[in-house]
Amino acid sequence: MKIDLIVGARPNYMKAAPVFRELQKCPAEFHCRLVHTGQHYDEKMKDIFFRELELPEPEIYLGVGSGRHGEQTGKIMIAYERVILKDRPDLVLVAGDVNSTVACSLVAVKLHIKVGHIEGGLRSRDWSMPEEINRIVTDSISDYLFTTCHDADENLLREGIAPEKIHFVGNPMIDSLYHYLPQFDQSQIQAQLGIQKGDYILITLHRPSNVDQDEIFRGLFDTLERIQERIPVIFPMHPRTRKMLQEFGMGHYLNLPNLKITEPLGYHDFMKLQKDAKLVLTDSGGIQEETTVLGVPCLTLRENTERPITILEGTNELVGSDPQKIYEHTMAILDGQIKRGKIPEFWDGHAAARIIAILFR
Ligand code: UD1
Repeated sequence: MKIDLIVGARPNYMKAAPVFRELQKCPAEFHCRLVHTGQHYDEKMKDIFFRELELPEPEIYLGVGSGRHGEQTGKIMIAYERVILKDRPDLVLVAGDVNSTVACSLVAVKLHIKVGHIEGGLRSRDWSMPEEINRIVTDSISDYLFTTCHDADENLLREGIAPEKIHFVGNPMIDSLYHYLPQFDQSQIQAQLGIQKGDYILITLHRPSNVDQDEIFRGLFDTLERIQERIPVIFPMHPRTRKMLQEFGMGHYLNLPNLKITEPLGYHDFMKLQKDAKLVLTDSGGIQEETTVLGVPCLTLRENTERPITILEGTNELVGSDPQKIYEHTMAILDGQIKRGKIPEFWDGHAAARIIAILFR
């Protein structure tokens, strides 16, 4: 079976890497071609992850780069269609909810090539998120839906997806977490930043709903200014967030004494910071899941989440973008009001192996 495994943006790599590794174990049955769309292209958004997750150079690099949604999705579709018209895979595996995911699955399905969606079925029910549209479209045209939790199964069934297409396999991103756990502790990032284990907050922000609107963005930084008076705050900054900080004339926040803003970090450094943080503030999807597995408190700065299991079972809480609410929840956690959680079913390091077992069948 010839499989194209698609990656394009940063959160794809940790999900694809364990699947690639498992496929490599069966060279007689599977030939896997790694395809990178070029949605993310910086060393810090791409190459460092390939090295740290031990992925080889992609066999195909589409090199599409940044652009508006329609433009980026369209460019990926045009470039990927050319590739598979020449050399047709039997199955295209896509992951998550980024533009590369929906673009490649659309191209494949129109050429009657089977599509497998890793991390299918998640729903925020917030149609203003580009990712929600990507999820719904990808799920609706996929032949194999590999889900991370049972609420995803239920979402798919409710949308009329045939039960035989749905496979609950667990969370492949957590496979990467467990696989590289010993390496995280080799990271020197805490010494480099001059911080101590358990004595800092880690924050990430990049969602358009938080960083594209002046008032919300400013409110979030005002809150960080107050929080950093009590505890160091580490902020590895996404390129989009840095761009908006300059655009809104908010550069002075870069100089707060206890707010340490860094470039985007590699996987090992970032996971080390996450693992040892007192608290994580984020609007990312994957980080809600990783903190749940690491048992680290997480406040999600969004009004909704497509990963409710991290709230029901894990350490996550939704606080939205209201500055006072974020501040109060943060202080409560620093004062010891910590939510304990458990690790969801099948988030055990073997999700990719389950995916391969299904492909074998
Ligand atoms: C994308 C995903 C989002 C995911 C995020 C993780 C979509 C719709 N969104 O959002 O779900 O959480 O990746 O990072 O697919 N840029 C660089 N260097 C890069 C890549 C981007 O500087 O290597 C800058 C460009 O100015 C670009 C902006 O970041 O316009 C946004 O990049 P883009 O890929 O469009 O979306 P993300 O916000 O990264």
